[in-house]
Amino acid sequence: MPPSHLRLLHPRGVLTTNGPISAFRRPSPVIALRRAYATQKPASPLSTTATVVKSTVAVSALFLFGYYFTDSRAAIHRYVAVPGIRVITPDAEDAHAFGLKILRVLWDFGLHPRDRLGLREEDDKEPFLETYVWDKRIVNPIYISAGLDKNAEAVDALFALGPSIVEVGCVTPFPQTGNPRPRVFRLVPDKALINRYGFNSLGSDYVARKLRERVVRYANDHNMTEQQVLDTLPASLYDGKLLAVQIGKNKSVSEDDIEGVKAAYISGVKSLGLYADVLVVNVSSPNTPGLRKLQSGDRLSDLLTAVVAEAKRLPKKDKPRVVVKISPDESSKEQVEDITSAIKKSGIDGVIVANTTLRRPDTLVSPPHLVHEAGGLSGPELFDPMRLLVREYRRRLPRDKEIWASGGVSTGQNALDVLTEGAGVVGVYTAIVYGGVGTIGRIKEEIRGIVRKTVEARNSRK
Ligand SMILES: Cc1cc2nc3c(=O)[nH]c(=O)nc-3n(C[C@H](O)[C@H](O)[C@H](O)COP(=O)(O)O)c2cc1C
Repeated sequence: MPPSHLRLLHPRGVLTTNGPISAFRRPSPVIALRRAYATQKPASPLSTTATVVKSTVAVSALFLFGYYFTDSRAAIHRYVAVPGIRVITPDAEDAHAFGLKILRVLWDFGLHPRDRLGLREEDDKEPFLETYVWDKRIVNPIYISAGLDKNAEAVDALFALGPSIVEVGCVTPFPQTGNPRPRVFRLVPDKALINRYGFNSLGSDYVARKLRERVVRYANDHNMTEQQVLDTLPASLYDGKLLAVQIGKNKSVSEDDIEGVKAAYISGVKSLGLYADVLVVNVSSPNTPGLRKLQSGDRLSDLLTAVVAEAKRLPKKDKPRVVVKISPDESSKEQVEDITSAIKKSGIDGVIVANTTLRRPDTLVSPPHLVHEAGGLSGPELFDPMRLLVREYRRRLPRDKEIWASGGVSTGQNALDVLTEGAGVVGVYTAIVYGGVGTIGRIKEEIRGIVRKTVEARNSRK
């Protein structure tokens, strides 16, 4: 630096005794960087190697963690995420909303948990698990039951967890808020839930828009028209997988107004049928007053006949199949007979056995104030009654009527037991709440293990 008296101000800089004008402007970032590097000592080969090693380790660790985290069966999901969510969201409904939102956001970023086996190219051929419902080949017999994704917000993220069917809904024609909160309760010692949501739904326009968005996105990505997608692909948009959409009625429509009831379900078919491989008619929620009365005799066959007729009118090649979801509490001989004859008369394609129960088995061990909350109970206590009911319906219904089993399934053995009773597919809900996102994958793995052992034992006897 020259002595201060020799520094003269210049309009564009400082004139120094060294002669030339040095620019008064700040050097550009590039120049500043170059200068900074120029003043650094050259890195020793040893420190360069250390930097490369550190970076490689960091990138590999990140990659491995990403791979681990995105595996739905990683222990972190079962042993950290599940209890963690329970702690940060004491209200079970908040946990439900939070879990679904996380799944959706992770899906958007491609970081969602996934059942790796179910995602490989040979997805079509999940070993030992492939099966058929009606004439449709599906990759495995496990599905996600209604109520988890009521508004079709996370359909693809749920498919990624490995089920062959995702059932969205229940969707009502018009938006409705459902019952006042709190309305979902965890019975942790029983691994059960009680819910009295009461068909909280954003309505069929909203859900139809969500489902249509998937179709439009697929069409754009694959250079197809929307109609081509609807006509040539399953509504799930995945080979060997199906999308079921459950429809219900608004609380404001009285069950005694049978024409009003029919109009409500028909409007559900019209707005959602295009996007469904299977339409599920819900007449069994215990949380909409009077709804379960629709399960009786002529009313049921009238309603189902109208739904089937409307589904046949939908403007797409492969019309959705129609099934009805019934309550496990209508289990007397007369009630089963009544429902069976409505199924046969109406021409629907099958039945889901069953919804949640209003019963409270003595075997529940949770605190009484929880056990006696109003609403439908789900979880392991449902399994035995559901299994007996599946047996009963299978005995009474012809083979072309599918039976889907839902109620307390949490293991591969459970699933195999009801498949053996004659169910075509097996639904899971509450077990996912307690077991996390790897539950479907684990159930499938257990089925595979049991089947493999049985086949090996049989072969060794030959
Ligand atoms: C919080 C919650 C919400 C549910 N919502 C619906 C629904 O909207 N429609 C329906 O048919 N079933 C609904 N269900 C019932 C489930 O689909 C399933 O049939 C029942 O819980 C039994 O299966 P699980 O023991 O595996 O949960 C709901 C269940 C729970 C726990």
